[in-house]
Amino acid sequence: MKLQASLSLAAVILACGSFFVVDAQNVTVTCEKGLYPPDSKTKVGTYIINLDLPPEQRWAQLAKDKATEIKALIDSFKEFILDWGPATKAIIEFLDSKGGDLDATLPYPFAGEIKGLADNTGINLGEMLLYNLFYEFFTVCTSIVAEDPSGALYHARNLDFGLFIGWDVKNNTWAVTERLRPLIVNLDWQSGGRTVFKSVNFAGYTGILTAVKPKLFTMSMDERFNIDGGFVGIIKWLLGDHKQKWMGFLTRDVMENATSYSQARTMLANTVMLSPAYFILGGNQSGEGTVITRSREAAVDIWKMSNASRWYILETNYDHWEAPLFLDDRRAPAHKCMDAMGQKNTGFAGIFNVLSSQPVLNKLTTYTALMKVSTGELETYIRTCKDPCSPW
Ligand SMILES: *[C@@H]1O[C@H](CO)[C@@H](O)[C@H](O)[C@H]1NC(C)=O
Ligand SMILES: *[C@@H]1O[C@H](CO)[C@@H](O)[C@H](O)[C@H]1NC(C)=O
Ligand SMILES: *[C@@H]1O[C@H](CO)[C@@H](O)[C@H](O)[C@H]1NC(C)=O
Ligand SMILES: *[C@@H]1O[C@H](CO)[C@@H](O)[C@H](O)[C@H]1NC(C)=O
Ligand SMILES: *[C@@H]1O[C@H](CO)[C@@H](O)[C@H](O)[C@H]1NC(C)=O
Repeated sequence: MKLQASLSLAAVILACGSFFVVDAQNVTVTCEKGLYPPDSKTKVGTYIINLDLPPEQRWAQLAKDKATEIKALIDSFKEFILDWGPATKAIIEFLDSKGGDLDATLPYPFAGEIKGLADNTGINLGEMLLYNLFYEFFTVCTSIVAEDPSGALYHARNLDFGLFIGWDVKNNTWAVTERLRPLIVNLDWQSGGRTVFKSVNFAGYTGILTAVKPKLFTMSMDERFNIDGGFVGIIKWLLGDHKQKWMGFLTRDVMENATSYSQARTMLANTVMLSPAYFILGGNQSGEGTVITRSREAAVDIWKMSNASRWYILETNYDHWEAPLFLDDRRAPAHKCMDAMGQKNTGFAGIFNVLSSQPVLNKLTTYTALMKVSTGELETYIRTCKDPCSPW
């Protein structure tokens, strides 16, 4: 069955505080079918991160393997922020010269891990810090927690990254997004030879955006745009206000240390952070799916699957009680395709198809991750969206 829905898109988009004008157009949503499993060449491999090692040594192998790719990404990110003018140039120079001092202010184990990453890649410590910071601000996504008829919970997401960071006119691609794909790895975080949790990471990033703690909970983070959000936080932090926690450090703490769904929810709801965010949390019991809408200070809303009156809960990058930005509506197509799939077809294949339907899949999509909490399964596929494909 092909489901068609017509979405009217109009003129102005506001994201990350900038205006972009594009042509009005109508987009047709076609719910994909039969795409799972995709080409095995797109499936990402796994590295073990041994939490019993000193932080400086944990990333040695991965850092060596991916040094060239991490450097390429930092270079294109620097090009992008240097385009903003002299103030950003000063920030880069500040980071290059003061990286060591700043790194020393980070909490355990991040100071040591980022130092180890810098040493093993040969990248300036300040730039390695910047690399770990910028995921706080540019992560555009779709996350879904869904329950099958037996009560088993699935959590899946597309990670879209780099909205408006460097459109490559020649290649018709987003430059940063292109450079992220080779960095995608699954990580198996172990202690005492046992898996503590599994995550999908961009190599060299020490925080967590997508992860499963087997038999306990699953988590993903979606960016929440807010004009006074990220940048105020980053500037305050650079100026020495270190009371707020980096989003990525909070999510890492939750995955490492929380021992239940409710403890994870409390930590995600109540810790003061550098930037606003949406946290999507799934548990291992029927009905345990929550979207936590965060300001920097605390949760402004906790939306449960039961409130959504559905067998799934879905979040993109807009407050669930507001309409999404009309030019960037991935929510309505995702709902259409989830409803067309139906609860009885909930599973990796069905959800993968939903996350493959444009514009839920778009040119910024770097990966699709599929998690099943009861078994601890995590499958990640690198995504590319061939023309014609939005955004634009
Ligand atoms: C979009 O669709 C509506 C109705 O379906 C139509 O009236 C309108 O002209 C279309 N706009 C464009 C730009 O095609
Ligand atoms: C997790 O859920 C599965 C069913 O999906 C169930 O069999 C298992 O007992 C649950 N585990 C815990 C720790 O609740
Ligand atoms: C874009 O294409 C050019 C060749 O036309 C290539 O050299 C360059 O690496 C490409 N850029 C990206 C980001 O893929
Ligand atoms: C986990 O908890 C321990 C003990 O409180 C703490 O030292 C460590 O920093 C925490 N891990 C993270 C990633 O925050
Ligand atoms: C969600 O449901 C609970 C009761 O289950 C209710 O107290 C709460 O107000 C609801 N929240 C929203 C946002 O609808």
